[in-house]
Amino acid sequence: MRLDKLLGQAGYGSRGQVKKLIRSRQVTVDGQLATADNLNVDPNLQDIRVSGKKLSYSPDVYFLLNKPAGSVSAVRDKEHQTVIDLLDEKDRVAGLYPVGRLDRDTEGLVLLTNNGPLGYRLLHPKHHVDKTYYVEVNAALEADAPAFFENGIAFLDGKVCKPAKLEIISSGSEISSAYITISEGKFHQVKKMFLAYGVKVTYLKRISFGPFHLGNLESGAYRSLTEEEKKKLKNFLN
Ligand code: URA
Repeated sequence: MRLDKLLGQAGYGSRGQVKKLIRSRQVTVDGQLATADNLNVDPNLQDIRVSGKKLSYSPDVYFLLNKPAGSVSAVRDKEHQTVIDLLDEKDRVAGLYPVGRLDRDTEGLVLLTNNGPLGYRLLHPKHHVDKTYYVEVNAALEADAPAFFENGIAFLDGKVCKPAKLEIISSGSEISSAYITISEGKFHQVKKMFLAYGVKVTYLKRISFGPFHLGNLESGAYRSLTEEEKKKLKNFLN
């Protein structure tokens, strides 16, 4: 959000009054004098002060959820349980939404926030946010598989994927397992990549998303991001 807009919303007066405050060198962002009205800031991630007094602003929330299979990555759904339904009522704050989508049968890490612009930035292709999945498939993953994924898979509709990293955990004629890391988010991307290789995904779980890791969070459970984790979000502000 723009600094002048934020200060206006926080009760520091009209646009003109806010401009004057900034020009008179009374506003700091993370200890640095703010000189531009249109500076992009986030009061949840940065220390913003007016005449030395910390700006009070209702905080954005960030939850990391372990989505169980069967729930949908949506705010509302007529038929299915949503990722928002999994939260305690007190945590269902206005504007909360999942950053990106997992298929209904996919499990694992979903980031939920009410910070609209942040979600958009995390998903923007320019940031190349890595997502790692644990995957099981119905046939063998041969020694040539990592190179196949690394070379950029082309789907039948002509879409070409960026190189992906495949790490085989085990390979057998009826079941194999692996970690796959992709840096984009095409629709059903992981399942389609494995189909392109010639095998079918039978289980899919996202275990990391950018700097965030699922760890040992139980299925259906969630937690707030730690202060350390929130600091990492700063990289996606611009
Ligand atoms: N790729 C898929 O195919 N499905 C998901 O849910 C996520 C990534």
